[in-house]
Amino acid sequence: MTSIRESTGLDVAALRDHFPALGRAVDGRPIAYLDGPGGTQVPRECIDAMRRYLEHSNANHGGAFIASVETDAMLHEVHAAGADFLGAHDPDEIVIGPNMTTLTFAVSRALGRDLQPGDEIVVTRLDHDANVAPWLAVAEDRGAQVRWIELADDRASLDLASLDRVIGPRTRIVAVGLASNALGTVTDVGRVIEVAHAAGALAFVDAVHAAPHLPIDVSALRADLLVVSPYKFFAPHLGMLYGRRDLLERLVAYRVRPAGEALPGKWEVGTQSHESLAGLLGTFAYLERLGAAYGRSGSDDSRRARLRAAMSAIHAHERELSLGVLDRLADVPGLVLHGLSDAARVDERVPTFSVTLPGHHPRAIAEHLASRAISTWDGDFYAWELIRSLGLGDTGGLLRIGLVHYNTLAEVDRLVEAVRELLGRDSVRA
Ligand SMILES: Cc1ncc(COP(=O)(O)O)c(C=O)c1O
Repeated sequence: MTSIRESTGLDVAALRDHFPALGRAVDGRPIAYLDGPGGTQVPRECIDAMRRYLEHSNANHGGAFIASVETDAMLHEVHAAGADFLGAHDPDEIVIGPNMTTLTFAVSRALGRDLQPGDEIVVTRLDHDANVAPWLAVAEDRGAQVRWIELADDRASLDLASLDRVIGPRTRIVAVGLASNALGTVTDVGRVIEVAHAAGALAFVDAVHAAPHLPIDVSALRADLLVVSPYKFFAPHLGMLYGRRDLLERLVAYRVRPAGEALPGKWEVGTQSHESLAGLLGTFAYLERLGAAYGRSGSDDSRRARLRAAMSAIHAHERELSLGVLDRLADVPGLVLHGLSDAARVDERVPTFSVTLPGHHPRAIAEHLASRAISTWDGDFYAWELIRSLGLGDTGGLLRIGLVHYNTLAEVDRLVEAVRELLGRDSVRA
């Protein structure tokens, strides 16, 4: 990554070299991985760190022998790096688990113990079901009421004008997403958190879809709890939760007794995938290098500053990608983009684009694209409420084209060409 500083944007060719999977071809065609929202590819730094861990330090934690002592050190380091990545100030505020959904069910159940009948939980129509269903379950268990932040008139963002009506004195928890995994819309969660706090409620933020695209700063946001999934930001399959220290200490965790009360172990039930955690450290090292190469200025050379610089550089680069994609998709006859299509609102989105093509089932389009070595997703992506609100629940949902920083507009050109090919077949048949 040494030669990439001279350009203003990211040198994507150099960055792509860090990702071995991007070199794969099928039937002579390089794979275009436009499936990032379902999980991203990992850099060599991640793969090497996993291998090193498994070759040298593979052990359970807390033992007296060398591999276990090394495992403890690695575990401490990954929590510290996770805190730097999310802008937390205390590694003990970082809880790692198998995935976001498991962590959210665990913490929602713990929060549910404080709820009384008549208390209110606020959820949204835009969120992934992993930030809805756990709260619906807790509400049912505790006799709490569920209130919804609905979609705005644009059918792509949340109606934040309704916040003062939806959040009130009985609200205890507000669960909101930072970015939509279906439409790419970024929500002003700072505003939601402010209203939640003014009402005395806690804010739980699903930042899973935002994490590969934006710098996240839990301290600036004043989030009480926030979740991400490292496998969506170039690391192995894992989930990671930030929780305010006093909250994690006060809440009762469902755990085995020997786990004790100390953070973060109190919340990390059972044995972790240590090799995946080692891999996550490798991914942070990749991002740090990216941040060091592209960091704008300043004397702060800390890991936190480098990670922030990396995500800021990625965010700026992806803004250009988004504009390029919007331009290209607008040119495809008949294609309907669900989500923010106005270039003037590009700062309210990440490069995740969901479309329908009348007369073509989303799965059929995805299969056609797959036959051209282009990976996309189709369906509801568990954005269950949204897809039904858009009236797409019975028609196969959406086709999702998801870019991350290693994708290129040339890959999107290939996708557009393949879609045109599909449309061309139609006109031949007609
Ligand atoms: C926005 C969002 N939230 C939550 C999840 C669930 O994450 P996990 O797979 O880590 O449980 C996903 C996964 O697609 C997601 O995109």
